[in-house]
Amino acid sequence: MTNRQSPHGAPCRRFLAFCFAALLVACSGSDDGGGQGTGTGTGTGGTFTGLSALPNPPLTAAPSADDEPVADTEAFHTAVNFAVVREAADPLPEASVVALTEADFALGLPDAVVTAPAALDTTSNAAPFFVGLDNLRVVAGETLEIRFVPRDPEGELPGMFPQEIPEGGSFIDNFDGTRSLIWQPLQADIGITSFTAVAIDPDESDYRTSQTVLIAVDAPDDPAEIPNVAPGIKEVLPFTVRAGDPVVIEIEGVDRNGTLPSVELESAPAGASLLPHPRFDDRHVLRFVPPAAGELIIDVVVRDAVDTSLTATESISLTVETPANFVRSGTRLKELAANQGVNFGFAASPEFYRRADGALYAAIAAEEFDLLSPEASLKMAPINPLPGRYEFADADNLMAFARAHAMQVRGHTLVWHRVLPDWVLETAVAEREVHMREFITRVMTRYVDDIDLWDVVNEPIADEGGGLRSSIWSDSMGERYIDIAFAQARALDPNATLVLNEFDIGFAGPKIDGLLALLDRLQAREVPVDAVGFQMHLFATYDDFDELAANFAAVAARGLDIHITELDVSLTDTTDEQQQADVYREVVEVCLEQPRCRVIQTWGFTDRYSFRSFFDPLPFDADYAAKPAYSALQNALGE
Ligand code: G3I
Repeated sequence: MTNRQSPHGAPCRRFLAFCFAALLVACSGSDDGGGQGTGTGTGTGGTFTGLSALPNPPLTAAPSADDEPVADTEAFHTAVNFAVVREAADPLPEASVVALTEADFALGLPDAVVTAPAALDTTSNAAPFFVGLDNLRVVAGETLEIRFVPRDPEGELPGMFPQEIPEGGSFIDNFDGTRSLIWQPLQADIGITSFTAVAIDPDESDYRTSQTVLIAVDAPDDPAEIPNVAPGIKEVLPFTVRAGDPVVIEIEGVDRNGTLPSVELESAPAGASLLPHPRFDDRHVLRFVPPAAGELIIDVVVRDAVDTSLTATESISLTVETPANFVRSGTRLKELAANQGVNFGFAASPEFYRRADGALYAAIAAEEFDLLSPEASLKMAPINPLPGRYEFADADNLMAFARAHAMQVRGHTLVWHRVLPDWVLETAVAEREVHMREFITRVMTRYVDDIDLWDVVNEPIADEGGGLRSSIWSDSMGERYIDIAFAQARALDPNATLVLNEFDIGFAGPKIDGLLALLDRLQAREVPVDAVGFQMHLFATYDDFDELAANFAAVAARGLDIHITELDVSLTDTTDEQQQADVYREVVEVCLEQPRCRVIQTWGFTDRYSFRSFFDPLPFDADYAAKPAYSALQNALGE
């Protein structure tokens, strides 16, 4: 952490402090963190009296050797200067959407769902609707057609679009105001599935009616009646990569007959390898190093598992650029920021090193940033998907990447109301404190030597009104869940910087007021908060810089540091890249004018992987070209 009077101790002090905390744990007779103390109240008055002892044995099993990732091999990633690991255990099934059943089908056509803008007077403008629809049954191998006829009470013709079209289906335009779903379900589709079309009000495009139809696909008496269709591969989007970098591409064979096709290279660069994926049996990993710039087409032959004469050839296209195209003028952001006593960081995509452009992504990140937040990998659901089951590989890899580049890591995030594994949501209310503290303990213990900066509690303030957000944590422990989380974190790593992270506090309003009031209550209870994270997910129309400065000052007046933790500036239909750049520049200027503003992080750095990629919010575009926002950051940081 670049020191702007940072409270940090040297690593060895951190380790000794951690040993002391561990000793505290031992005295408390629990294997999972926490010190002596009385129970935890749930009200908001009085002083926090400390952590109760965690149960021993713990409510859920702590990580074991079975949870330890294993070394990965070069063939499966693009890392060039850190060792990569992968999960040892077989993958858990994708969090499946709740399967529809015959009982759902028997209930008949689902009710239409209308969404309207709050200000709309729906009495004078009734919602669009569909006529002539019902659930239907079909036998796998038969082709169905469902015609969607939209109507509007005011007589005009609504617009229409489909939600997710089933694999192999199409939603055709009949050029008479109606559209039809054409689909031939096969073995893999047997069961109950749904399809939704949306009608758009002719006068108000945000006024819509969604109509779902349930489709029951039955198995034929004779499976041979189902045609054997050609296999294919899951779409691989075009990528921009850098000549000389390793490229890996996951090729996922798909066959709607429910079989597993084989995959062969018909044309590939010299030295390419195509190996079965070490964890997913429906995938292969292609790895090669493109030697020179140019457009690259790789042809892959996919062969049917039942009829090996049935094949398809799929092409994967890549743009290979010369390294010179990615050289940026001026000084790197982290160097400029360090001259100002500020860390400049980003949020790292999960498993970026398994993407085709992973090496280029890593190179630019290493050049520009000295602080990393795992964008998704350190949250409760990915890390602890089942009681006693842990998946640390991706977080371990991000720590290894950070170490390889002398980056700090922000542990994002220990306690949040989102991205919680189902098993936690189903726990008894009375157990929630322990589950929260066991998770905090296990994650902080594993990464105590990698992470000295933690987003302990994320987004505690309600979206409206400035009160406490209702969540499984606040509903079970009241506001004290925050006290308990910070006390647990402090007990486990006395030298870490502990942060309360929030969004939509970059302007005046009930949310910042609510946060400041919360801080006052926490400080009155001696809760160890060191800093406030201002996420700063903005639009390019943002101009509340004076209010931002005032909010920074209010936090600083409480003796706390300010971290800009998730900055991105989304374009709108009335703004351009220069206005976006101006917002980046002015936010940095407000930070630099505040002595206690110590960190600036963007939430990602290339539009390609932004969670708001549709709005191109980041300083690099989807092909890793620096945008005006990048130069604006350099200028604001003193270039
Ligand atoms: O990794 C899985 C992949 O295996 C799976 O195939 C795929 C489809 O289900 O999902 C992938 O996980 C996704 C994950 O990002 C990693 O890409 C999750 O579905 C997706 O919900 C998750 O979204 C992240 C979100 O937090 C929830 O963790 C966003 O990328 C991330 O930008 C967003 O970040 C939050 C901050 O943590 C807090 N502040 C707000 C910010 C934006 O919402």
